[in-house]
Amino acid sequence: MQQQLQAVWEQLRIDLCGVQDTAALVQIRVAYLGKKGKVTELLKGLQAVPAEQKKTIGQLINDLKRRAEESIAQTQERLAAEELERKVLSAEKYDVSLPSTEKKGSYHPITLVQRELEDIFHSMGFTVEDFPEIVDDFACFEALNIPKHHPARDMQDTYYLSNGQLLKTHTSAAQNSIMRKYGAPLRAIFPGRCFRNESTDASHENTFFQMEGMMIDKDISISNLIYFMKTMLSEVFQRDVSVRLRPGFFPFVEPGFELDVNCQICGGTGCPSCKHSGWLELCPCGMIHPNVLRYGGIDPDEYTGFAFGLGLTRLAMMKYGVSDIRDFNSGDLASLAQFTAK
Ligand code: PHE
Repeated sequence: MQQQLQAVWEQLRIDLCGVQDTAALVQIRVAYLGKKGKVTELLKGLQAVPAEQKKTIGQLINDLKRRAEESIAQTQERLAAEELERKVLSAEKYDVSLPSTEKKGSYHPITLVQRELEDIFHSMGFTVEDFPEIVDDFACFEALNIPKHHPARDMQDTYYLSNGQLLKTHTSAAQNSIMRKYGAPLRAIFPGRCFRNESTDASHENTFFQMEGMMIDKDISISNLIYFMKTMLSEVFQRDVSVRLRPGFFPFVEPGFELDVNCQICGGTGCPSCKHSGWLELCPCGMIHPNVLRYGGIDPDEYTGFAFGLGLTRLAMMKYGVSDIRDFNSGDLASLAQFTAK
């Protein structure tokens, strides 16, 4: 009799393991605990058991009945939980277990241009420096030969913070601390995000990226500046480019220039992108002002250097033919996903 009880119990466990829905569970319940169920039949069979064993066997059968009820109730809970999970997943309309058919993520075009430039400058012996976006007035202006009330401050509409600090308006804000960190001789580039309180249109953004570079050593001259700029741009555009310098005013360089590159869209013959001039304005630069070297702890009688502030965003527009600067910050994945590393 006891073996029979054990066999019923084991069979019930097997049946419950395989059950997938409530209807099947109802059938199992009937098959074991219903009027003609296996456990009920056992109880009925108790009549035939000799009187002295009745009590023990009766207890065993009742115990089996209790365990059967408990197991069926637990299975009912499992089925309910599975049902709920199925409902949630079908409401989300995707199957998390399926492999993705979507395109993988891609790098932002500005990141691509930045990394490419980092590689190029790295191969020319420049280190790549990181710099915070929040700086103080000294770093952004004073140390760059732009004292308080200097008209040049009006060229950069600055976002000031309530604690007197500000969002850096140009990557030149890192010049002083990098000079102090390394001294001379020095070759460094420092890419970063810059902020200016400007109204936006197709060619203006209040948030944009620049890549600053500095080279300081004995006898550095304008020809070094031209050489490095030409080499860098030829690498970026994968062809020989022509550059020209026009005078430009920045208090932290003397002399200061605007560096133009021959239009990469029409090749210099003239098109709407270069306003039919054949040249695109790309990079302000110049020879570092002696005062700026002095603020950085470098003796201007011994060392000279050049600095440039390449517009990374502008370069990315040129390289990828993006006509509206606002596309870069739009977060529109469909348009950003077009760009892939070379
Ligand atoms: N910091 C200047 C700007 O953003 C650009 C610049 C950098 C000019 C380095 C000269 C030298 O306007």
